[in-house]
Amino acid sequence: MINANKTLSMAIMSGKGGVGKTNISLNLSYALNAGGNSLLLMDCDLGLANLDVLLGISPESNLQDLLTKGTAPSDVVIPMEPGRKLDILPAASGVPELVEMDEDMQGMLFKKLTSLVGRYQYLIMDLGAGINKTVMSFASMTQLRLVVVTPEPTSLTDSYALIKVLATQHGVKDFFIVVNQASSSSEAKETFTRLNLACQKFLDITLKSIGFVRYDQNVPEAVRRQTPLIKFAPKSNASRDIINIAVKIQKLRMDNMNLIAEKPIMSNFPLVGN
Ligand SMILES: Nc1ncnc2c1ncn2[C@@H]1O[C@H](COP(=O)(O)OP(=O)(O)OP(=O)(O)O)[C@@H](O)[C@H]1O
Ligand SMILES: [Mg+2]
Repeated sequence: MINANKTLSMAIMSGKGGVGKTNISLNLSYALNAGGNSLLLMDCDLGLANLDVLLGISPESNLQDLLTKGTAPSDVVIPMEPGRKLDILPAASGVPELVEMDEDMQGMLFKKLTSLVGRYQYLIMDLGAGINKTVMSFASMTQLRLVVVTPEPTSLTDSYALIKVLATQHGVKDFFIVVNQASSSSEAKETFTRLNLACQKFLDITLKSIGFVRYDQNVPEAVRRQTPLIKFAPKSNASRDIINIAVKIQKLRMDNMNLIAEKPIMSNFPLVGN
């Protein structure tokens, strides 16, 4: 097919803050890239951006320049490492008016992004926690939604609230769950089951599990060193778990290649499989 889309777009989101979205986004990006995929990682947390902090970089321009100054998308994207097709589109913290983007601005952003993003096999968007206009519009304009949950009861209730709003107000019913900071695979399963049962019972939605990441001291250590975990401790439990998720996502992209080819990058349709 000529000009067929090949990019899988993916939003990493959560109800509660601090559950591990940014670490998962970053390390999943490295893992997918190591599997031979080109990838753009976009910091969409317009309130408290911190991908740059995890990488120890100070970008000159960011997503806000794209939105407010009319900067070209290609001028904002920077390579995470030389020689890899692994790029980042940074954001800046503390620009409250951008957190509640109006529809015109969203339209402009999605239009600008589409041509840029088409060059990559994956677009990963690290969203802010909770429910605001920007989160809702990014989440409802992506092909894959990955909701990060921890076994804490507050994370479960906040995830449920997020899913409920997306389902009832935006008609989004397709969610993949990652349980992070699990002490074991059985705790991860229990957490998934609890959330899934609530969504089935009250929202008539069946969630999909795409894996779990164990609690691992190497994660905070990698954060302190401002180095991605997968580089700092590639054989650690959390790295291995993230690599497992990357393998599943690659399979999902391959299984849905025909569907993805027919749809715009910034669009929402149920993926098959898993
Ligand atoms: N699997 C894990 N094991 C141990 N600690 C973890 C794990 N995942 C995340 N953490 C810890 O949780 C902290 C928060 O992670 P992160 O910044 O990725 O969360 P977030 O969901 O992006 O937060 P925010 O909502 O503020 O954007 C990290 O600094 C790290 O120390
Ligand atoms: Mg974050």
